[in-house]
Amino acid sequence: MSVLIDRIGSLVTNDPALGRGPLGVVEDAALLLEDGVVAWAGPRTAVPEGAGDERVDAGGRAVLPGFVDSHGHLVFAGDRAAEFAARMSGETYGAGGIATTVAATREASTDELRRRTAALVAEALRSGTTTIESKSGYGLTLDDERRSVEVAAGLTPEVTFLGAHVVPPEFAGRADDYVRLVCGEMLDACAPHSRWIDVFCDRGAFDREQTREILRAGVARGLVPRLHANQLQRGPGARLAVEFDAASADHLTHLTDADVDALAGGRTVATLLPGAEFSTRSPYPDARRLLEAGITVALATDCNPGSSFTTSMPFCVAIAVRDMHMTPDEAVWAATAGGAQALRRTDVGHLGVGARADVVLLDAPSHLHLAYRPGVQLVSAVWQAGVPVVG
Ligand code: NIG
Ligand code: FE
Repeated sequence: MSVLIDRIGSLVTNDPALGRGPLGVVEDAALLLEDGVVAWAGPRTAVPEGAGDERVDAGGRAVLPGFVDSHGHLVFAGDRAAEFAARMSGETYGAGGIATTVAATREASTDELRRRTAALVAEALRSGTTTIESKSGYGLTLDDERRSVEVAAGLTPEVTFLGAHVVPPEFAGRADDYVRLVCGEMLDACAPHSRWIDVFCDRGAFDREQTREILRAGVARGLVPRLHANQLQRGPGARLAVEFDAASADHLTHLTDADVDALAGGRTVATLLPGAEFSTRSPYPDARRLLEAGITVALATDCNPGSSFTTSMPFCVAIAVRDMHMTPDEAVWAATAGGAQALRRTDVGHLGVGARADVVLLDAPSHLHLAYRPGVQLVSAVWQAGVPVVG
C-alpha cells in the first residue's frame, strides 16, 4: 500500500541532501509513503511515474516530520491545577509538589493509569507527536513503579525508569535506603520494561553521589542514562550527564560556563523544556548559548501534572522562538530531528528515504506558521508509520 502526498507547498525533510538548509526544505514537493517508510521525497516535477496507489492533495500546504517528544511524565493520576493557580499568584515551584501526584497515582487502579496515559498519547498525536517518551516516577514503590513502566511500555518503546524522581515520604530522612531500593529490587522489576534510566538530580531530589550510584546501577542492567539536570539551580547534573555519556541532559536552565564546555565536549543532547518555565513562571534556559557552543539542542514538552501540563510540541516551538530566541528553523529542527537524537533514533525525526513514514500535514503554507500562529491547531493530518491516524 503506498500513498503519494502531492502538491506540498513546503516540505521539511531534515535531510540537507534533499533540499535547502539544515531542514532540507523542498518547495512544490511530493512525498511517497510505502510499506510504512518514506520511499521517495523531492520536487513534484520529479515524482516517479505512476507513484502511489492513493494520492493525497496537500493543496500547497506544509508537510514536516512527526514531532519527537523525548521527555514526558505521562503515567500519573490526579490534578495539580490549584498548585498552578497558586504559582500564578506568586508561589514558587519546588520538587515538593511531586508527592501530591505520587499519592494520587498510588491510589489509582492500573486500568485508570492505562486509560489516562493513553489519552495523553492520543492528545499528543493530534498535535503531531508521532514518537513519545514517558517516564515512571509517580509510583515510587516497587509495585507502583513496575506498573508505571508497564503502562508506558504498552504505549511506546521509549520508556524511562525514574524511580529516582524524589525520595518518597515514607523514606523521609532515609534517602540512602531509598537509593538502595531503587538500585536493587525496584530496578530489577522495572528494567525489563524500560530502555532508559533517569534521575532528578537537583535541589530537593538527588545529589551527585546518589545520581552516580543510580546511573551506574541502571547501566549495569543495560539501561541508557538520560538526566533531569540543572532545572532548579546550578549543580552537577549537566556534567554528570556527559560523564555517563547520557543520551540527553534535560532542562539545563541554570548552567555555568564549565557545564556548557562539558556539554560541548560530549555527545549528550541538550533537551530544553520551555513548557516547564512557562508553567512555573521561571526564566527560560539560554538556548542561544548552547547553540552557539555547537551543542545539539532538542525541544520537548516535559508533559507532567506539576510543572508543564501540555502535550503540545507546536506550543513549545512557539515559546522557544518567541522567548528563547531560537529561529523558527532551529526550533522545528529541535522538535523533530533534535528529539530523535535525544532518543538515539535514526528512523524518526526526518523524512529522508527509508525513514519511518511519520508525517504531519499543516493547515498552513510553511513550518514558520507553527511559531507565527501560536495556540492555533494547525495540524490537519498525521500519518504514523504510513498509517493515517489523524485527519
Ligand atoms: O521535569 N523536575 C522533575 N520532574 C518534573 C516535574 C514533576 C512534578 O512537578 O510533578 C519536571 O519538571
Ligand atoms: Fe521532567
